[in-house]
Amino acid sequence: MKAVLNQKHLLGIRGLSAEEITHILDTAETFREVSEREIKKVPTLRGRTVINLFFEPSTRTRTSFEIAGKRLSADVININSSSSSVTKGETLLDTARNLEAMSPDLIVIRHPSAGAPHQLARVCRAGVVNAGDGAHEHPTQALLDALTIRQQKGSLRGLRVAILGDILHSRVARSNAHLLTTLGASVSLAGPGTLAPPEFASLAVGGGLRVESRIEDAIEGADVVMVLRIQRERQDSAFLPSLREYAVHYGLTLKRLRLAKPDAIVMHPGPMNRGIEISSDVADGARSLILDQVANGLAVRMAVLYLLGGGAGALNVSTNPATQAKVETESSPEASTESLSAAVAAAHADSSKS
Ligand code: CP
Repeated sequence: MKAVLNQKHLLGIRGLSAEEITHILDTAETFREVSEREIKKVPTLRGRTVINLFFEPSTRTRTSFEIAGKRLSADVININSSSSSVTKGETLLDTARNLEAMSPDLIVIRHPSAGAPHQLARVCRAGVVNAGDGAHEHPTQALLDALTIRQQKGSLRGLRVAILGDILHSRVARSNAHLLTTLGASVSLAGPGTLAPPEFASLAVGGGLRVESRIEDAIEGADVVMVLRIQRERQDSAFLPSLREYAVHYGLTLKRLRLAKPDAIVMHPGPMNRGIEISSDVADGARSLILDQVANGLAVRMAVLYLLGGGAGALNVSTNPATQAKVETESSPEASTESLSAAVAAAHADSSKS
């Protein structure tokens, strides 16, 4: 069976099948090895153009999309809101149309408004990747989280995952709720009542999601404890009495972590507020996989750019693009570039016939 990503865009996790998610994770796994090479580059997206359009601050996502594109040999252009003509009054759609006139293959967008990537996808011929839209979705974060969990636990099926903190404002929580339940994990969301409303239990279409009012109840027996950042920039009304009080009642400390399974892992999407949602001894402790998440973010973004940017047709579950490129670049760099491009083009043509 050929498992391809049946999407032109990656706008969210909601709507992706378990097979599509697994295919992205398997593809990411093959790209991890590229970052361990002396020459960290494969020719896969040579001649393709990726525009990173960021209207919100970002360290991890923007940098890893840039590095991912460059390691795949794409031409990568970075635009942020302060240096774009949006500051002169241009609308998002006019910006997108003007970028389209330069024929990019992929546009990666982060925007404070939910639905901004969907708007772009409606007017753009390029593939659009959602790098975080308001409080809606952050699909590549959920994918990198899943890859990290899968590496540690083998599978997500049957795992108990606690997601703690500011659920209300979190696109990471929404994307993870969809992804984790689609792959068979059960998820407990927990935080203050103002930030973890009970209605969130119905977020996942297939069930597997619950909301706890005490974070201890969510942590107890968990295989994975995922802590979310308190998003002070999105809280325009009083959701919390004080950050100090939040740290006391809802922060992940070593004492609270002892309620989880002995081999439980700790995750955080970053950036962290140390001493508020997570104590430093947990964040820097042996069970923390926070930097593994960042490393996996690069592999996931390489996979997403590859699958949406022309590599999808070349892929089936038995093909390893990174290994293929490695073998070819080691024998003859020029020949390898041509032959891999030819293989991708042939497979692409093949998939467009079917
Ligand atoms: N996790 C995450 O999206 O981090 P950045 O805001 O630094 O991209």
